[in-house]
Order: sequence, then C-alpha cells, then structure tokens
Amino acid sequence: SKAKICVIGSCSMDLVVTSSKRPGAGETVLGESFKTVPGGKGANQAVAAARLGAHVTMIGRVGDDHLGTTILQNFKDNHVNVDYVEPVTDMESGTAHIILAEGDNSIIVVKAANDHVTPEYVAQAIDVIQASDLVMIQQEIPEETVTYVSQVCADAKVPLLLNPAPARHVNKTVIQNLSYITPNEHEAGIVFEGQTLEEALREHPNRLFVTEGSKGVRYYDGQQEVVVPTYKVDAIDTTGAGDTFNAAFGVALAEGQSLQDALRFGNRAASLSVTKFGAQGGMPTRQEVEEQL
Ligand code: RIB
Ligand code: NA
Repeated sequence: SKAKICVIGSCSMDLVVTSSKRPGAGETVLGESFKTVPGGKGANQAVAAARLGAHVTMIGRVGDDHLGTTILQNFKDNHVNVDYVEPVTDMESGTAHIILAEGDNSIIVVKAANDHVTPEYVAQAIDVIQASDLVMIQQEIPEETVTYVSQVCADAKVPLLLNPAPARHVNKTVIQNLSYITPNEHEAGIVFEGQTLEEALREHPNRLFVTEGSKGVRYYDGQQEVVVPTYKVDAIDTTGAGDTFNAAFGVALAEGQSLQDALRFGNRAASLSVTKFGAQGGMPTRQEVEEQL
C-alpha cells in the first residue's frame, strides 16, 4: 500500500530569470529568459513525494489571485490532495524571485499567503496529520506552526521530518519532538549554533542528516560518521534539489526502508531533479529512480 504523507508548508510561484551576469547594487543587466513555474518548498516536497508514489495531502495556503489558481491546478495534475489548501481572501500567493546566473541561483521569497499557515489553520487538519505515516515540514511558514506540528506529531507518535530551510533558529521543543532533521551546512550552523557540526551530529545519531550538496549526506550512526555520496550528473538547475531529496528520503522512511536505503533513494532522486529546469521540472517518478538504483 502507498505511504501516507502529509506536507505542511509553503506553496509559491517561482519567477525565474536566467542571466549570464548577476547585477550588483545599482546595476542593470540584460537577462536571457523569464519563466513562471510552480515552486515553494512545501509544494515541491508534496509534488516530489506524489511522483514517487506516495499518497500526499498538502496543508498550505495560496492567495486569491491567478497564481493561486495555477498552483492548485499543478497540485491536481500531480495527484496531490488539496482539501487543505485554502485561498486567503485579499492576499497574494507566495512568490520566489529567482536569478539563475553564473552557475548558481539567488532567491528572494515573499511569503504572502504562506504566513497564513497558522497553528489554528493547521489544526483543522489534525486528523490527517495523526493518520499519516510521516509528516514533512519546512521553514517558509510561521515558526509557531512548526512548533505546534511538532507537538501534534510527538503526541500521536507520527514521525516528523523537518527540513530547516530557509535557515532560522529552531526551538528546543521542536528539536526534541522531531524524528529527522535535514539542514545543509549553512542551516546546520544556525540551528546548532554554539556547537561544532561534529558535536551536533554525535548528539543526534540517526536523526541529524547534513546535506552537503554534490558531496552527499553526512550523519552519525551511533558508532561513526557516515557520508552517503551522491551521483555525478550535469546540473542544469539545482533549485528544488533539496526538496526532492527530502521528499524521497521521507517516502522511503514512511515505507519502512532502512536509513541507508532511504538516503540512497533520496540522493538518486535529487540527482535526477537537477538535470531539468525548474524546481519541479526534473523531479522523477518512482520508476525513473528505480531504474537508476
Ligand atoms: O527549495 C526551492 C524553493 O525555494 C523554490 O521553489 C522557491 O520557491 C524557494 O522558496
Ligand atoms: Na530541476
């Protein structure tokens, strides 16, 4: 049977400009292209998990603008349940303003409707959360919502996977309540401030997974530090690679796969995702990942 995944997080439209040069302050440059594609860390993880064969419910919010309509349609096209994605009246949908230049991206996120993913709003879907095999959450929604969800999951003994992106402080209650946390190196420095990475890894064996981009994922297994390497690919667009990793890792864990297998599955899915334009562009199907494993 399919793993039941609940994703609580952001839904956005990514407004993506490609340019050979990134402008400095006060500078104007001429870019090459502009595209509008669905994104947002929550929505990305929901779509990735659904493509990998999970039964996915999204809990989030859009604006009552045309972007919101497109975001909802994209969820439906990808078989994500949108019963709990309610438009906010007189509000814009979240947007991510992305520049792809000089081999990397830079992003400004305007949260807009995503700030309305409050604890009270999420509480309407508490039955869905409690009945999930695994819950995924990120940090493009209010901090108190992350705290609330962590408590609901701990009480119901539902594993929670926190992807602490973008970087911000995570309170002690959340750290205690969660089952898995997946910062990149920069985010780990902020979440585990005052500790070295080695100390943090040792304090959280088999719970803290630091994603190190093309190097792979690092964690402590209770005995030693382990790095699970990624796969070499020609990257076109790394936007959403972290979301694809988290979704695949979460789906595999929800299915009861071993940590090592889940990490390999995550790395494989993420490596496929970067070979196409757009956060959701290269997100693979289950079959596409399995052919590569
Ligand atoms: O993780 C990638 C996502 O982060 C993009 O889709 C963009 O929406 C940004 O918020
Ligand atoms: Na992509």
